[in-house]
Amino acid sequence: KFMPTLVIVGAQWGDEAKGKLVDVLGSEADMVVRYSGGNNAGHTVIVGDEEFKFHLIPAGILHPNVTAVLGGGMVICPKALLQELANTRAKRKNLGTLVISPAAHVVFPYHRIIDSLEEALRGESSIGTTSRGIGPAYQDKVGRFGIRMGDLIKPEVFAKKLKIAIEFKNRLIVLLGGEPISYQEVLEEFNGYAKELAPFVTETDELVSKAVSSGKRVMFEGAQGTFLDLDCGTYPFVTSSHPVSGGACLGTGVGPRAIDNVLGVCKTYTTRVGAGPFPTELNNELGDHIRVVGKEFGTTTGRGRRIGWQDTVLLKKSVDVNSLSGLVLTRLDILSGLGDISVATKYELNGEEISFVPIDGEAFQNCKPVYKTLQGWDENLRNCKSWESLPANVQKYVRFIEEQTGCPIVILSVGPARDETIVLRPELIWKS
Ligand code: GDP
Ligand code: IMO
Ligand code: MG
Repeated sequence: KFMPTLVIVGAQWGDEAKGKLVDVLGSEADMVVRYSGGNNAGHTVIVGDEEFKFHLIPAGILHPNVTAVLGGGMVICPKALLQELANTRAKRKNLGTLVISPAAHVVFPYHRIIDSLEEALRGESSIGTTSRGIGPAYQDKVGRFGIRMGDLIKPEVFAKKLKIAIEFKNRLIVLLGGEPISYQEVLEEFNGYAKELAPFVTETDELVSKAVSSGKRVMFEGAQGTFLDLDCGTYPFVTSSHPVSGGACLGTGVGPRAIDNVLGVCKTYTTRVGAGPFPTELNNELGDHIRVVGKEFGTTTGRGRRIGWQDTVLLKKSVDVNSLSGLVLTRLDILSGLGDISVATKYELNGEEISFVPIDGEAFQNCKPVYKTLQGWDENLRNCKSWESLPANVQKYVRFIEEQTGCPIVILSVGPARDETIVLRPELIWKS
């Protein structure tokens, strides 16, 4: 018998406020597991006047009773992790317990170099990656050249694996026009990280599956978003891992029947960082206005996020591919005072209306949004604490998104702080 588990997944292209949600719901969790990606992610948590930006550490770590797991599906830059840990400890003495899967892959300097060289080679077709070496690290995992955290902490194993990897990577770097790197330097640098990180590396699969089967509340923290998924997303403008809820079953120690609840986090509008198709994009003053008002600049790279209207064609697909049990609608406050609000409910493709997301990249690129217009709201929502206190047009908007997606909206977020959260259907969060 399984007890309640909950996946928090990005329902759009990332930055939906997963970090805030994980923090808010983390007070009820025993364990929080990051299951994919690396420090391409940036999860912001605001507590009082303190701001935490998590890239690798699960946002749930702020709750002292939580075991925070860096799962086997992740790729980890040890230097970034140690920095993040030091920064977090400097702000908080009382943190949850951190553990790292031996199966998580290590990101090396050659991955970052190759990330940049690949992007340069792509030229106009570049993806706009976060240049953290994430894609090349996953390439090595698939190519079976990868070095895992479990290898890193065994000096002899590590020295041998790194030798082969660097020999291979240096040839590639030189071919791509870059400077080869020194085996000895990387070895020494990473042996240092290994010493510091070794105490955290433990058999996390066993830990997670035991927690689940013994009735603990386990939350899986998604990174990125559904349409950045390698398979479900807008390929090739995607990340190299599996952000979708199914990714929570890869390298964590549990299978699909252990997942009870999946909450998809989405904004009231849509954003995307980096290149790739975006049917509802607002390439105009309104888009610029929302970027400024909403402080839509990347947590990891500082890049301005591209802005567009809400798109329920995308959300419907997100409901399906993630088996969403509910949606969380964030940043309702940002659309205050904008006048009418548009929501794409269909696409027009080659003169025909369609209501699904074509998986063919070129077809998706050619989709034009078909909008429904709703009345907006002028009220400041940040002090709203209940459904009843929300303006009628906000309530209509929420109902409209529910109708279009066929998915209940479980939580609303009207500001970045913990208490700027309205739980509409508490019974749908940890249902077992
Ligand atoms: P994540 O990657 O999904 O965790 O999201 P990010 O942290 O990258 O970006 C979300 C940003 O929105 C952060 O700066 C949050 O503090 C902020 N935020 C979260 N919820 C809300 C909300 O309801 N309203 C506003 N205005 N900001 C929010
Ligand atoms: P969180 O967890 C938004 C985007 C990059 C780029 C593409 C590939 O904060 O929501 P990568 O470096 O992963 O190879 O880049 O994916 N991307 C994100 N966009 N939020 C993220 O994470 C992202 N992580 C990667 O901008 O378009
Ligand atoms: Mg983010």
